[in-house]
Amino acid sequence: MKILLTGGAGYIGSHTAIELIQSGHNVVIMDDLSNSSAEVIRRIEDITKTTIPFVKADVRDKAALEEVFANQQIDAVIHFAGFKAVGESVAKPLEYYDNNLVSSLVLLETMQKHHVNKIVFSSSATVYGNPESLPLTEESPTGQGITNPYGQTKFMIEQILQDAAVANPELEVSILRYFNPIGAHPTALIGEVPNGAPANLIPYLTQTAIGIREQLAVFGDDYNTPDGSPIRDYIDIVDLARAHVEAVRRLVERQATEPLEVFNLGTGRGVSVLELIRTFEEATGVRVPYQIVGRREGDIEQVWADPARANRVLGWTARTPLSETLRNAWKWQQRQG
Ligand code: NAD
Ligand code: UD1
Repeated sequence: MKILLTGGAGYIGSHTAIELIQSGHNVVIMDDLSNSSAEVIRRIEDITKTTIPFVKADVRDKAALEEVFANQQIDAVIHFAGFKAVGESVAKPLEYYDNNLVSSLVLLETMQKHHVNKIVFSSSATVYGNPESLPLTEESPTGQGITNPYGQTKFMIEQILQDAAVANPELEVSILRYFNPIGAHPTALIGEVPNGAPANLIPYLTQTAIGIREQLAVFGDDYNTPDGSPIRDYIDIVDLARAHVEAVRRLVERQATEPLEVFNLGTGRGVSVLELIRTFEEATGVRVPYQIVGRREGDIEQVWADPARANRVLGWTARTPLSETLRNAWKWQQRQG
C-alpha cells in the first residue's frame, strides 16, 4: 500500500513512517518543514534503507497537493500536518485556525476528487476538555472546556470529518486521539525537536538533566492526586506509531464497521509529574534538579485513557515500559547535546 503522510517529517509522522515501511508499506511524505527539517527524511531513509518520495509543500497549496495525487497512486492518507503548540495557539489563533482547518479541508477536497477515501487523523485527548470521570473512553463528552485554539481546531476537524463521512459514503475515517506522546526512536536518530524553550514536560526534563536548563519547574503539588502533582497518560512514541499501522490496515482491509471510528491511544495508566521524574532518575541514573512552583494556567488535574477499544479492535497495546521510553528520550537528548 502507498500511504501519504502529511506532516510526515514531524515527531509523530517520522516515527510512523518507519513503522509503516518496516511493515511493508510505501510512504510519500508531504511537509512544508515549518516545524521540522529535511534531515529527518534522511534519517528515516537511513533507518529503513529506503528512498522516500518527499514533497516540500504546504498542504494548503492545492496545486502541490493535486500534483501528489495525480502522480502517485495513494491508497490512504495519515494527516499529521498542523501546528500544535498550545501556548502559541492562544497568541496566534488565526494562524492556528487557518493552518489546521484549511489544510484539512484542502486535503479532503483533493482526496475526494481523486477517489482516495481512507484517512487517519491525528487528534488529541485535548478534545475531552476537563474530564468528568476517568478513565476517558471514546464516548466521554468532547468539546466542553477546551481551553485553547489548538484544542478547538482538533475538535472542529473531528466535526468536519464526521460531516464529510455522512455526505460521502465512500469515505472511511479513523480518528486517533493521542494522550501524551513521549520518547524517541531507540536508534536515537529521530525524536522530538522542541522549538525554542520546551513547553512540554519531557523535553524540558531532559534539557535540565543535560544542563541546558538550570531546573525543572513542577507546576503544582497541591492537586487532588496521591502526591499532589498532576497525572497524565504518557505513551511511547514507537508504540503510538505502531497504532497507525493498525489503523491503516483496518481501513485498507475494509474491516471498519462504521464510516468513522475513534480510538484513544494511551497506556491506560496515569503517572504523576513527580513519579515521572523519579522514574527518569532511576532509569538513567541522572539527577533532575526541580522546584515546585505554582500551577500552570489551563492545566488539568488528571487524565488518562481507557485504551480498551484500540486494544480490542486494532489489536494494539502500548507495551514499552516507561523506564525504557525515558531512557530513549535521554539517549536522544544526549545525541542532540
Ligand atoms: P510536529 O510539529 O513535529 O509535526 C507536524 C509536521 O507538520 C511538522 O513537520 C510541520 O513542518 C508540518 N506542517 C505543519 N503545517 C503544515 C502544512 N500546512 N503543510 C505541510 N506540513 C505542515 O508535531 P507532532 O508532534 O508530530 O504532531 C503531529 C500531529 O499530531 C499534529 O496534528 C498534532 O496536533 C497531533 N498531536 C500531537 C501531540 C503531541 O503531543 N505531539 C498530541 C496530540 C496530537
Ligand atoms: C499539552 C496540551 C495537549 C497537547 C500536549 C502535547 C494542554 C491543556 N494540553 O498537554 O493538548 O497535546 O501538551 O503537546 O495544554 N509540566 C511541568 N513542568 C513543565 C512542563 C510540564 O510540571 O515544565 C507538567 C504539566 O503541568 C502537566 C505535565 O507536566 O501536568 C505534562 O505537561 P505537558 O507535557 O505540557 O503536556 P499536557 O499539558 O498534558
